[in-house]
Amino acid sequence: MTTKNFTIAIIKPNVAQNDKEAKALTVIIEKLKEHNLVLTDLFRTILTKEQAEAFYQEHKDKPFFSTLIDFMTSAPVTFLKIDGEKAVESWREIIGATAPKDRKEGCLRQMFGDPVTVTYNGFHGSDSEVNAEKEWEFMKQIQATNQKATKKSMNK
Ligand code: RTP
Ligand code: MG
Repeated sequence: MTTKNFTIAIIKPNVAQNDKEAKALTVIIEKLKEHNLVLTDLFRTILTKEQAEAFYQEHKDKPFFSTLIDFMTSAPVTFLKIDGEKAVESWREIIGATAPKDRKEGCLRQMFGDPVTVTYNGFHGSDSEVNAEKEWEFMKQIQATNQKATKKSMNK
């Protein structure tokens, strides 16, 4: 059963790699427990340009859009679905502010994100319940499409 209170997170390419991701996931599991949140789905994929553009379409006219899309498609990302009361708000607090200068000590972006460049902040979090719903549909669609593409390329 899907609970109404959930959020969608992404571990971005600069953190979704080997040791760094393993360390981040250990911290994530601890922080979720502290906030009474539960990780209920996770998958790793490489986003196509079209998928990244669709995901971040609200920013399509911003000057940083092409840098963001290049970054998000540069290497694998890991999607997470996180369930629990106030999941959207709590996860945004756990990851911390978008820009390095605004971050509090101990938030995930401060611990694992780039200390200078906003783009490489390491983590995404839905900004509202409405967007969490949309992003959950998007996550399921990407999971199905990209797994089919992987299977097809493995059978060649
Ligand atoms: P996200 O959507 O990834 O969770 O991040 P957010 O809500 O904290 O920030 P948002 O304003 O939605 O921006 C989306 C992502 O775009 C990159 N960004 N670069 N000035 C810049 O160079 C700039 N501003 C934003 C970041 O990767 C940000 O997380
Ligand atoms: Mg955002």
